[in-house]
Amino acid sequence: MSSPAAVPWSELREQARRATSTSYAPYSHVAVGACAITTDGRFVVGANVENASYGLTLCAECALVSDLARVGGGRLLAVSIVAGDGQPIAPCGRCRQLLFEHGGNELLVDAGEGSDPTTLRVLLPDAFGPKDLGRS
Ligand code: THU
Repeated sequence: MSSPAAVPWSELREQARRATSTSYAPYSHVAVGACAITTDGRFVVGANVENASYGLTLCAECALVSDLARVGGGRLLAVSIVAGDGQPIAPCGRCRQLLFEHGGNELLVDAGEGSDPTTLRVLLPDAFGPKDLGRS
């Protein structure tokens, strides 16, 4: 699964929607789910986990990145993030940085059915990343 053209967007959206059922969001009541496919074809998922201190809330993308590490790491090729109504949403600022670490500029981000996916390069231009610290 290294070709962007072959990204199974419907499957990503469906798994992201399913992941919302594992959200813990007693404060905002906004259940968010995320699903990504890795360049070697594995699916990773996550849902938001809120906290009484609000600012410590873990977004769905945080859980997704944790799932990626749990299943052996690798690079993210494409991601879909959906909120309560099941429609794709844009990742928040912190999560753009998190996703950049594991998908880089070319990571494809779902912009919704009927719209072309965007890329992290567009969502987080001139990103600070591993290369700035001398890492490849
Ligand atoms: N949220 C995410 O999970 N990901 C985002 O990219 C945007 C926001 C969550 C955090 C909080 O639990 C809820 O959505 C409302 O902001």
